[in-house]
Parts: sequence; structure tokens; C-alpha cells
Amino acid sequence: MKEYKIAIYPGDGIGIDVTAEVCRTLETLNERFGYSIKLTEFDWGHKYWKKHGSVVPDDFLSELTAFDAIFLGAIGDPENVPDHISLKPLIQMRQQFDQYACVRPAKLLPGISTPLNNRSCSEIDIVIVRENSEGEYVDAGGGFSTWSERGCAIQTAIHTRHGIERILRYGFELAGERKKHLTMATKSNALKYGMLLWDEVFEIVRRDYPAIESDKCHVDALAMNFVRKPDIYDVVVASNLFGDILSDLGGAISGSLGLAPSANINPERKFPSLFEPVHGSAPDIAGKGIANPVAAIRSAAMMLDFLGEKCSAQILDEAVNQVLSSPDAPKTPDIGGNATTSEMGDAIIANILSNSELQ
Ligand code: NAD
Ligand code: IPM
Ligand code: MN
Repeated sequence: MKEYKIAIYPGDGIGIDVTAEVCRTLETLNERFGYSIKLTEFDWGHKYWKKHGSVVPDDFLSELTAFDAIFLGAIGDPENVPDHISLKPLIQMRQQFDQYACVRPAKLLPGISTPLNNRSCSEIDIVIVRENSEGEYVDAGGGFSTWSERGCAIQTAIHTRHGIERILRYGFELAGERKKHLTMATKSNALKYGMLLWDEVFEIVRRDYPAIESDKCHVDALAMNFVRKPDIYDVVVASNLFGDILSDLGGAISGSLGLAPSANINPERKFPSLFEPVHGSAPDIAGKGIANPVAAIRSAAMMLDFLGEKCSAQILDEAVNQVLSSPDAPKTPDIGGNATTSEMGDAIIANILSNSELQ
């Protein structure tokens, strides 16, 4: 039987709660679709920091290369560890494993209400394709006397022709499988070096995809349009930081950040890809047991799909959709209910077990 080795990195805060539901869900599917899943959990994050003074071991990346995929809950414990330290491993995984395609669907699911008036599910169905390996997130910069009155800091974004071209091609290919429309986020009216390069590469790449309608839009106007007319978007390709910001907005217009999944993909499969919800560790609700596990469970479905297990990915997505659209099923407070994280997990697992395709 085919075996998938999955590294589980629950992290901090609600990352731990939602990952527990992902593990239970994956165990439910285990050995029922002609493959087995072996989960190996790592206690990295705030717990590791307390014992070792770092959030991950020095060789964590080489440890992870042995896995077929990585699942991350969420990291960040801002009360105890500075964010730029706890979040560093996430950015390292994305960059060192060349997970340059960050795919973040923003889709309104049946049974979920959006803060936008009178919008149906077919009108909010966007996939944000975020460049995930360079741009504003490269570690290029420095500070000078930052503690003093004359303190200054430089944070440099690096955009390469290669990086822009490959993410645009990824987006165009995806648009070809969807609604055949692509919008590229730009800001070349102000950022006249980096974003002009994005515009230039866009003009070249789009010529190879005549069947896809494509346009570009300044990211500020694009953010406004996500609210005003989300129905005009299909695939939205954006630089690292623009994609980050747009994906929280995408989560909000699709009903809750607690529903928004994400995949950090190395399309060449040279390195393990990483799957995680869009949301963070949510210190405001951590420890309360009320985090919505759906974003994490949908990310696990994206992982199964990427591993080639389309049938179980679909069963997982169907179970989520049925629970969300059933008026009597338990829902967490972010989507208007009063259920706990594990009660929602239970409902999704019960739905999976009732699926006739299950062996
Ligand atoms: P956040 O995404 O953690 O939370 C934003 C808001 O959304 C909060 O009100 C939170 O309660 C709510 N929310 C998020 N996920 C939810 C869920 N599953 N169910 C219900 N409500 C949910 O963003 P933040 O507060 O800006 O960041 C908190 C910490 O997480 C920081 O340390 C930040 O750096 C980190 N962070 C980590 C990741 C990651 O690990 N990928 C992503 C974003 C933020
Ligand atoms: C995300 C997060 C991360 C990012 C942070 C926590 C470094 O916000 O995955 O969206 O900015 O990429
Ligand atoms: Mn983010």
C-alpha cells in the first residue's frame, strides 16, 4: 500500500486545536482509499522555545526533506516570542523548499453568509495565487541606529524576471482550468522599479495564453473591487505581500478567515509542499476551544489533492460543505454558531464515515 509521510507542525495558539482536528480527519481516511498516511508530529514553536531558546532545531529543514508533505497549524505567540522569530521557519520553508506558488481559494460556500450584501456563491469564487518565494519577503535590508532619533531601516523587495514569470504561468494554467480569467495585481503607478518589471513580464507571458482573458489592476483598487464586485475575478496573481493582504480580505468576504485554506506548492515536486490555513494563531481566542477547524481541514484536502488522492480530497471537501450547509450541524462562533472546535471536527468526521464511497 502506498504510504505518505506527513510532517505535522501544529505550532502555537489555535494552530494546535485545528491541527488536532486535521489529524483526526486524516486518521479517519487512513487505509480506506488504498493508501496509508503516517503522521509525525513536531513540538516546534513556543513549547520548543521554552526548552531550547529557539522555535525550531537548527536542522529542521533537512529533517523535513524526508516527508511527502508538511501540514502546519499556525505559528505565533506574540506575548512570549517576538513574531519575526517565531514566524521565521515558515518563511524559510517557503523559500528554501521553493514553494513559490501559494494558492489561496476565496470561495463563498453554501450555508455561509458573507458580509457583502446579496452575493451568491457563484459570485465569490476567486483563487489568489501569491508569489511566495521572493518579493517583499526576501531577507534584504538592515538598520542603522534604530534605537536612536536618527534611526533608520531599509527593507528591500527583490522581484526577479524568473520569479514573476513562473508565478504568472502558474496562474494562467490555473485560470485555464477555471473561469479563464486572470488579473495581476500591480502598483506600478508608485513602485516604478519592481512593479514595472511585473507589468513588463505580464505583457510577455499573457501572449502565450490567448484563450485566457487577462488584465492588471492596481492593488488598492483591486482590494476595493473584492468588496464592490468580487464576481469579476477568477484567478488573481499577486506579489508576496500584496497576495498576503488580499488573502485575508478574500477570507473575510467568503465568510470567515476560519474557513480559508492555503497551499504553498513546489510545483516541480523537488521539495515537500506545505499546507496550512490562511489564518494565524489567533491569540484572542486561543485556549477557548472555539477556533473554526474548517480552514485547516480544507488545507488538508488541498494536500491530499496535491498528493494525487483526488477521491479522498473530494470526500473531505464534500463533508465540509455538507456540514456547513446543514442548518442543524454544529458551527463555531465565527460563522454564527456556538459549537466547539472538536464538535465541528466530530460532525465532519461523522459525515465522512457516512459516505458511501468509504471502504
Ligand atoms: P489571525 O489570523 O491569527 O487572527 C485574525 C482574526 O481572525 C482574530 O480575530 C481571530 O480570532 C480570527 N480567526 C483566525 N482564525 C480563526 C479561526 N480558525 N476560527 C475563528 N476565528 C479565527 O491574525 P493575527 O491576530 O494578526 O495574528 C496572530 C498571530 O498569528 C501573530 O503572531 C501572527 O504573526 C501569526 N500569524 C501566523 C500565521 C501562520 O502561521 N501562517 C498567519 C497569520 C498570522
Ligand atoms: C500568512 C501569514 C504570514 C505571511 C506571516 C505570519 C509571516 O500572514 O501566511 O498569510 O505574511 O505570509
Ligand atoms: Mn497573512
